[in-house]
Amino acid sequence: MLVSEAHGPKNLIIAMKKAVSTMLLFMSMGTAAIAQSPIELTVQLDRPAGAISPHMWGVFFEDINLGADGGIYAELVKNRSFEFDQPWMGWKKLENGPEGTYLLLNDNQRKGNKRYLRLNNVSNLKLGLENEGFRGMGVKAGEQYVFSLQYRSEAGDMNIMLEVLNEQDKVIGTATMPLRSSGTWTESAVKFAVSSTTAKGKLRIWFTGTGKLDVDMLSLFPVDTWKQRPKGLRKDMVQLLADMKPGFIRFPGGCIVEGRDLANRFQWKKTVGPIGERELIINRWNTEFKHRLTPDYYQTFGLGFYEYFLLAEDIGAAPVPILNCGMACQFNTAELAPLDQLDEYVQDALDLIEFANGSVETKWGKLRATMGHPEPFHLKMIGVGNENWGPQYIERLEVFKKALNAKYPEIEIIASSGTDPEGDRFDFLNDKLRAMQIDIIDEHYYRPPSWFLSSASRYDNYDRKGPKIFAGEYASHTTRPNGPGRSTWEAALSEAAFMTGLERNADVVQMASYAPLFGHVDGWQWSPDLIWVDNLQSYGTPSYQVQKLYSTNKGSDIIPVRRDGQPVAGKDSLYASAVYDKNAGELIVKVVNYNSKPMQVSLSITSNKKIADRGQKVTLASHDLNNSNSIEDPLRIQPKQESIIRKGKKLTESFAPYSLTVIKLPAK
Ligand code: AHR
Repeated sequence: MLVSEAHGPKNLIIAMKKAVSTMLLFMSMGTAAIAQSPIELTVQLDRPAGAISPHMWGVFFEDINLGADGGIYAELVKNRSFEFDQPWMGWKKLENGPEGTYLLLNDNQRKGNKRYLRLNNVSNLKLGLENEGFRGMGVKAGEQYVFSLQYRSEAGDMNIMLEVLNEQDKVIGTATMPLRSSGTWTESAVKFAVSSTTAKGKLRIWFTGTGKLDVDMLSLFPVDTWKQRPKGLRKDMVQLLADMKPGFIRFPGGCIVEGRDLANRFQWKKTVGPIGERELIINRWNTEFKHRLTPDYYQTFGLGFYEYFLLAEDIGAAPVPILNCGMACQFNTAELAPLDQLDEYVQDALDLIEFANGSVETKWGKLRATMGHPEPFHLKMIGVGNENWGPQYIERLEVFKKALNAKYPEIEIIASSGTDPEGDRFDFLNDKLRAMQIDIIDEHYYRPPSWFLSSASRYDNYDRKGPKIFAGEYASHTTRPNGPGRSTWEAALSEAAFMTGLERNADVVQMASYAPLFGHVDGWQWSPDLIWVDNLQSYGTPSYQVQKLYSTNKGSDIIPVRRDGQPVAGKDSLYASAVYDKNAGELIVKVVNYNSKPMQVSLSITSNKKIADRGQKVTLASHDLNNSNSIEDPLRIQPKQESIIRKGKKLTESFAPYSLTVIKLPAK
């Protein structure tokens, strides 16, 4: 609009005000004019399409990105038993003393943990060790910590003095511990508090007294672990898992199952029994990626198979162990155990079932009982191989299948369909696995958001009579390869869209888990991850929020949602699925709006149940697809709940731009 200057400034202001209000009116008329008429969806509550497995949404745990050591396993001392290839990694000697003061002994008679440190204090020096922790030690003001060690002393009275220091080298916690002279190995512990919080602390251990002192398993744990278990797991990290109410937990991986070579494979039997006797191995992710070398990454197995089963039980998840099938990682050495030497591998699988479920009279059931769990762990499925491929895999799998089916026909076998969800390798394995009537096929997909969006109908036409599907590892990668993929809202929302397809086909896709689970901000190798941690805090990414919304609203029966008689799988960037929850008597509809504008959607519910007019609407949304959560802003993207009212037969709602919405209506 033109305004003549001759009318003076006052008139100019009035004219401008008019112009603005006319513009606003025009804009609002414009919006009304372009307002989209609601998209009509039919929710067929009266036509349930199959049961949803209680194990539908689970978690995938692998010791990658400092997931176990330096992560959920709450030990603060790195290389506590000097067993790393470089025995002094993580340690510093504070006073050297004369030659021969610090000696590293390797005693072949000791099980698992062969090395120990001899402090040979000939002239009553104050000797000391300093441990740097895993990228520092995270300790919190007012919290209590337990230092423990194994020792053997052939001297008179000796003492230990402990100091926890913060980043500025200020002492924030101290304790003393007298050591009795004794010719045998003894464990001793002391509890103390720290006065301030630091994410990057360190531990100093001073030794006084004259004589020879042997020490091993120098360890520092918070008292406040998950369920207050001594030497247990990080409470905040387990809590994030428990909050998801996962249907299962897959462990211990991932490629870690395979190892770089067979010697480096995961062997569950070496991870059970007394912790001090568990032989550590180098973590395969230690040098896997040149851009993310992690030379101090080892698996001490303080978190071993017993602890995995216990964790599963704690969080109400079915245990899903994946075992090595006689093949090392095919991206690394691709070593194979010869077919006539597979017995050991097969026996490990059979014995694991006995360890989990066997009576306390059996060898492995007895070990479980000795470790504190006489009750069985109710193992129902077992994975044979992770991301293995080729005829060499099928040959080995056949041997496992025969032995497992013969001894434990009730145990379902999960088998890998390789690294990719399509292509020659996938087709070969898919055909073979179906022909051999494997129970569950483990499919993996690390793909860009566009793949997730366009694959929401992947399972709509899958064979209903063949094996069930386990979407065992997946994540939407906005940057691949090598780039540090961020778990943005774009990635999470594309996963949410895809997951409507998993839910709609839950009669064939019976389990699904995002991967990997944890990433340490200072020690990761692979990104994106579901949950990020530093030494003190943890938070769920937008993908975590999506997973949690699905798993806490999983329902018991699939309810078809149709648009013009078709599944709602991407037309107009709209995705939907629904379930009925028998226990709660609730209809739960999930809608993904992958548009930058709100979408009006009208839900007509065909039902033989009485549907309440009032319900809940939970929205997870961000207008910016690049948004994410962070340590500083952990809940930037989080669900928001509001009440809704259904007026008349239909429920018409506006779905926010770029949103996952869960609608819940009582229906009894
Ligand atoms: O989740 C990270 C890795 O991705 C897993 O170890 C492996 O199975 C897959 O390639």
